[in-house]
Amino acid sequence: MNVLVIGSGGREHAIVWKLSQSKDIKDIYCIPGNGGIEDLAACRDIKVNNFEELISFSKKNRIELVVVGPENPLADGIVDAFTDAKIPIFGPTKKAAQIESSKIFAKELMKKYGVPTAGFKTFFNYEEGKAFLNHINPPYVIKADGLCAGKGAYVVRNNDNGLEILKQLMMELIHGDAGKRIIIEDFLPGIEASYLSFTDGFTTLPMIPSQDHKPLLDDDRGPNTGGMGAYTPIPFVDNSMARFIDKEIMDKTIHALEKEGALYKGVLYAGLMLLDNKPYVIEFNARFGDPETQPILFKMKSDMLPILKACIDGNLKNIKEIEWKEGVSVCVVLASRGYPDKPEKGYVIKGLEDLKDRKDVMVFHAGTRKESGKYYTSGGRVLGVTVMGDDYKDAIKKAYEAVSCIEFEGMQYRKDIGAKALKLIYG
Ligand code: AMP
Ligand code: GLY
Repeated sequence: MNVLVIGSGGREHAIVWKLSQSKDIKDIYCIPGNGGIEDLAACRDIKVNNFEELISFSKKNRIELVVVGPENPLADGIVDAFTDAKIPIFGPTKKAAQIESSKIFAKELMKKYGVPTAGFKTFFNYEEGKAFLNHINPPYVIKADGLCAGKGAYVVRNNDNGLEILKQLMMELIHGDAGKRIIIEDFLPGIEASYLSFTDGFTTLPMIPSQDHKPLLDDDRGPNTGGMGAYTPIPFVDNSMARFIDKEIMDKTIHALEKEGALYKGVLYAGLMLLDNKPYVIEFNARFGDPETQPILFKMKSDMLPILKACIDGNLKNIKEIEWKEGVSVCVVLASRGYPDKPEKGYVIKGLEDLKDRKDVMVFHAGTRKESGKYYTSGGRVLGVTVMGDDYKDAIKKAYEAVSCIEFEGMQYRKDIGAKALKLIYG
């Protein structure tokens, strides 16, 4: 069959790479793709919110499966549009994708159905929010209701700052309409984990837990980014906690969505805070995570195609579990100077050739483009250097050795990806 992947990041390169190994797939297309994806799939430059053109492209190229990477087309209803056109598509409908596109929707759902999450209050009005802030003590978290490309959550440690953020969100509308409604949430100090499950709306099939590194700089300093690196598995979630998360968070949430008339198919991603060995949801995403998907799919042994099809067809219960390669997978993101605010672009990337034939290393591309056989930087997060190692020490060492082969002007990356796991294990 022919497959179309929507998106242009490291996540989409990993999805294309994984699907390219399925023997049942003939041609892979990616819209818009990037310099690395181009080596595996035919890329086309169509706007991902132009559903009409995407559908006509899919019909012309006999696409039998569409996989959607980013959240915006999901929130805009791409799944509804393709389903109406009778083209199988992997991902939630616009209604179900509200689990990510509206934090208030997600929080109210969790509250109603008893999914563990931080306490919160919702505000539609600036003056009411301000009055509330004057009565509580930091730390707390202010979150815009709508999609803000990962920039809509603010951990507040002093009240003046909180009042300023509230004003910027609700009065100055720095994130547009996304900040017209907000939530103020209890701060949960803990360890973060990303938990992704496939689902057909009735059953969930978990992937191995992973951990992202959102702040730009080592030791979780600096501004938040889309994610500067990830690894899997993580030593903070053992089997018994994973089964608890399956039952009390993932299954409960998809059953809640079904009851609310929003059957959820695709990947459900829970951003968790682990506190006193208990998981709390701090956000849901309606899609694969980026960069988490890079180490997760690099470690996945099973063919992903039958899983995606089972989610769409509603028979995921027939797939009992996913097989994984032994060992630890680590992904270090290489970003451009100026990321996340104003990334510089257009520099040549050197050193990729040296890593090309390594079985234990895969360099997934994000912000890159290819021209006359050379790769150039074209965005904030440029590459995800992803490796497999025997254990945490081995995988981290290998990842940074691979990173040292690559060079581009202004390249920046965190030096401490996986350090939290090392600290827990070795002290
Ligand atoms: P979000 O966009 O909701 O994932 O939030 C971005 C980041 O803010 C998270 O990765 C956490 O580091 C932090 N954060 C969000 N909510 C909370 C919370 N309730 N308690 C502590 N930290 C949080
Ligand atoms: N890694 C965070 C996200 O995908 O939203």
